[in-house]
Amino acid sequence: MKKIPIVMDCDPGTDDALAMLMVHAAKNIDLRAVTTVAGNLNREVTAQNALDITEYFGIPAPVAKGSYPIMKKFEALDISVMGEGGLGNAALPKAQGEFSPYNSVELLHREVQKAAGEIVILATGPLTNVALLLSVYLEDRELIREIVIMGGAVYYGNHTPRTEFNIYTDAEAAKIVFQSGIPIKMIGTDVTYRTPVTRKDLDCLLSDGKRVSKFIGDLMFYPGDGERPFPEEGIYIWDGLAAAALICPECMEWKHVYVDVETKGELTYGETVADMDHYLKQPPNVHIAFGCDKEKFIGIIQKTISAID
Ligand code: RIB
Ligand code: CA
Repeated sequence: MKKIPIVMDCDPGTDDALAMLMVHAAKNIDLRAVTTVAGNLNREVTAQNALDITEYFGIPAPVAKGSYPIMKKFEALDISVMGEGGLGNAALPKAQGEFSPYNSVELLHREVQKAAGEIVILATGPLTNVALLLSVYLEDRELIREIVIMGGAVYYGNHTPRTEFNIYTDAEAAKIVFQSGIPIKMIGTDVTYRTPVTRKDLDCLLSDGKRVSKFIGDLMFYPGDGERPFPEEGIYIWDGLAAAALICPECMEWKHVYVDVETKGELTYGETVADMDHYLKQPPNVHIAFGCDKEKFIGIIQKTISAID
């Protein structure tokens, strides 16, 4: 099977960490590089987390440090969401290896050039690096096969009433990416909110005693659960769904729609405005996921993670 070459641009982050393990282990994906960006936490922490994860699990991909939002003042996610270190209750040994000598934008560019026309970018953090890539290396716009984004919200926000965190963190960057003309798949809150993952869904994976299972258990569960009991209704594994959409696009239900990003509104900054009824008469530029075969999604998590030692 010909593998899809990808770069994962991320802000680990608990769900980024799971997504990274999924694409690393997926049989149809070739994870060429990991580029990091400020988002859940500052750029130093997201980069160190990515390096720690790749080294601990033997992921042979260089890791680069990224940027802060292009215009907007950086606001990390509240530490109550993912814990101080950004990996929930998980604690990995500090990596001994080095970061890539290139920054995230330079490493993205190098990988795009190496796999021109084939490369796919999986973006599970704010789109700062990707926007800078498309602005500095204009020629790369023609060489990127697709950008698969965890981000955006058509109907329900998860950070402000109608915005999702990754887009809200750097809406100017998102606007550049959405208007780039590159094929985009958007896995936003509209599908994540429809795909909660319960403790039972994960139990069979987490009870095999492997170190990767303990890591994921710690990512998703908090100390003793008592302080932060696993919610009965389940949790939303945002970036994991984007990884699954890349691994198995047919597991999702897509709608091809024109989407633009609001960067001016006081209350609406960061909204991904989807023209569901074609008022704007613009050609569709984004495939938005509105549904997911949850059984297949859980199966992808189990199949990929169980392949990791
Ligand atoms: O809104 C969810 C997104 O914000 C995920 O990528 C999560 O990691 C956070 O970055
Ligand atoms: Ca993320």
